Amino acid sequence: TQEEKQILLNAIRDVQDFPKEGIVFKDITTLLNDKKAFNLLMSHLEKRYKEYNLDYVAGIDSRGFIFGAALADRLNIGFVPVRKKGKLPSTTVCEKYELEYGFDEVEIHLDAFHGKTNARVLLIDDLLATGGTANASAKLIKNVKADLVEACFLLNLTFLNGKQRVEQHTPVYTILDV
Ligand code: PRP
Ligand code: MG
Repeated sequence: TQEEKQILLNAIRDVQDFPKEGIVFKDITTLLNDKKAFNLLMSHLEKRYKEYNLDYVAGIDSRGFIFGAALADRLNIGFVPVRKKGKLPSTTVCEKYELEYGFDEVEIHLDAFHGKTNARVLLIDDLLATGGTANASAKLIKNVKADLVEACFLLNLTFLNGKQRVEQHTPVYTILDV
């Protein structure tokens, strides 16, 4: 509801000029340490996704881990981390994506979904900006032959049009469009 959205919005702190001048950083730590807001968010996600028949939630390094792991536990399913390169110890597949300056890479374990084909996977992160990270993560999930059912974000920075980019790969659900 609109009222619930407002509670979530109020719990997210805007920090001016972080990480650099002119950027307004969306700080979710003030939502996480607010038990009412965090519980409201997780209950909303649980209600939506319990109907989806998911096999796994995949969370994007690092803030996507927080919501993804909490949701996976609520749904009684497994959690899979999509990590920035060089962090996962076993055999991985990786995908490059473009940043404002230069490139970065995300990785997933080749056997993350237990080698099961067509595992139903939800991808989750805190924030959708340009969509570069989410797009690369979506490709990874498809590359290991899982079925990406939806990508979910707490916040969508609409002026960057990331949603349109990610929607070319998967349905996208965003809770707060700012
Ligand atoms: C932020 C945010 C998303 C990503 C969105 O993460 O948490 O993961 O950027 O940007 P994009 O849509 O333009 O790709 P960041 O890379 O800063 O890392 P963190 O989650 O570890 O803080
Ligand atoms: Mg992130």
